[in-house]
Amino acid sequence: MKSNEPFADHTDQLARAEEAVSALEAKRNDRWYPAYHIAARGGWINDPNGLCYHDGRYHVFFQHHPYSPEWGSMHWGHVSGTNLVHWNREPIALAPSIEADRSGCWSGSCVTGDDGRLYAFYTGHRQDVDGPGIRCQTQCLAISDDGTHFEKKGVVVRALRGVVNFRDPKVWREGELWCMVVGQQSPERHGQVALYTSRDLVTWTGGDVIYEYPDSNVYMLECPDLFALGGKWVLCFSAMGMQPNGFVARNRNNAGYVVGSWSLGEPFVAETAFRLWDWGHNYYAPQSFEAPDGRRIQLGWMTDFHLTAPQMADGWCGQMTLPRVLTLRDDNVVLTPPAREVEGLFEPLAQYDSLELILNEERALCDDLTCGKVEVTLDLARTSAERVGLKVHQTADDDYLYVAWDAQIGCVVADRRCTRRGNKGYRAAPVASNTLRLALYLDRGSVEVIVNDGETVMSELSFPLEGPRAVSILSESGTARIANLRIASLRQRD
Ligand code: FRU
Repeated sequence: MKSNEPFADHTDQLARAEEAVSALEAKRNDRWYPAYHIAARGGWINDPNGLCYHDGRYHVFFQHHPYSPEWGSMHWGHVSGTNLVHWNREPIALAPSIEADRSGCWSGSCVTGDDGRLYAFYTGHRQDVDGPGIRCQTQCLAISDDGTHFEKKGVVVRALRGVVNFRDPKVWREGELWCMVVGQQSPERHGQVALYTSRDLVTWTGGDVIYEYPDSNVYMLECPDLFALGGKWVLCFSAMGMQPNGFVARNRNNAGYVVGSWSLGEPFVAETAFRLWDWGHNYYAPQSFEAPDGRRIQLGWMTDFHLTAPQMADGWCGQMTLPRVLTLRDDNVVLTPPAREVEGLFEPLAQYDSLELILNEERALCDDLTCGKVEVTLDLARTSAERVGLKVHQTADDDYLYVAWDAQIGCVVADRRCTRRGNKGYRAAPVASNTLRLALYLDRGSVEVIVNDGETVMSELSFPLEGPRAVSILSESGTARIANLRIASLRQRD
C-alpha cells in the first residue's frame, strides 16, 4: 500500500459529502439546534480542529461525519468569521481520499506557513483495511492557497515502532522551528505526548516523549495542546482511562491540563496535578489558538458520551462551546471566561439590583428564555439557604436543568434529575472563592455555566420541549440575598 495514493478523487468526495449534509439539513429538527454555537448543517460533529486566525478571518474546522448524525468516517467541516461569534459556512475542507486517510481524516491543527498559505495537519486513520483489527495512524498535511480548498500532500509523520494509537497533531512556531505535539499510546499502554520539529513544515524529525501521564490507568492522551501562558507552560490533553475521583473525571473521557515548565529539547515538567477544563457533563477535546491580539482562545466539543443524545433523532449531533479566553492565575489555575465578543450577542431584558428570597421561596424570573443569558451575584454572607438555584429551560412538562450553589459541599452543581430527555445525574464544580457570580449562557439545546468569571465552568446539553422555556430562582431550606441579577436575551440579527 502506498500511503499517499488516492483511492478516490478528493473533489468528488467533498461534493458527495456536501450533498449528504444538504439532505440531512433539509429534514433537520431545530428544537435544540444552536442559535449561536457552532454546529454542522446536518450530520455529526466532534472535536474542534485547525483553530486559527488566517488571512483576516478566524477559522474553526471540526470533525464531521456528513452521512449521518452518528460518528463515522471523519471529514473536516469548516466555518469562518471575523468576530468569533458570527460564523459563515465554508465548504467541507477534507474528506477521506488517500490510502493513509481511507478510514477518516481525524483531528489536527492549522498554521499559516512562511509562504502565507494555510497548512492543515491531521491524522490519517486507516482501520481494518490491512486485516481485521489492524489500525494505522499517521500525521498528514494538506495545504490551502485560499483558506478554503485544500490540496493533500500526504503523510509527513509516521509512528515509531510499536505505537498504534498516534494522533491529533498540534503545530505551532517556536522561534526558528515549527513544533508538533502528538498524542500517543506507548506499547505498554501508557498515555503520552510526543514532540516533532521541522524547519519547513514538510520534513519532520523527533518523536521524543515529552510527557507521560503519571497514572497508569490513563492509556491514551488525545488532542494534546502545549502553549506558554502567564510565564508558564500549559499542557492540555483529553485523557482516556482516568478513574473518577470525587467530583473529578466523572465523564467517560476527561479533558484537562497541567501547568509546568518546558523548553525545546527537554521534557515537560509538571508543577500541578491534572485539572479539568470544564466540570460539566459535556466537554471534550478542546483546542486553542492565539488570536492576533495575543489572547489564547479555546473551544471545546459539547459531547454526550453516553450516545443517547436526543439530538441524533433530529438529523444532527454535536456543537462547540463558546470561545473561551485563557489566562493563568497566580495559583496556577487557568481562568476560562467566554471571549468578550460573546457579550455583543445579547441585549438586556431585566435587571434586579437586590433580591431577597424568603425560606424556600421560588420566584419566576422570565416566562421564556430559550436563548439568552442569566447572571446572578449571590451575597454569600447574607444567605442561609442550603442551595440557591436557577431552574432554566423549564417547560410545560416541568422539565428543567437545575444550576445551584450548594453551600454544604462548596460547589456549583448542574443537576439533570428533572430533565426528561437525555441522561440524568449531576456534576459539581468546587468553588474556592468566597464570592459567587454565575453567568449562564442558554442556547436552544445547551447551557454553559461560568462561575466567578471563568474560575470554573460547566458545559451541559439540555433538551427542553418546544414552547416557552422559563427561568426561576429558588432558595432551599433557608433564605437568599441576591446582590444583582440580570437577564439578557439573544439579539436578533437583521
Ligand atoms: C477525540 C478523538 C481524536 C480523534 C478524533 C476522531 O474525540 O477521538 O483523538 O482524532 O476524535 O474523530
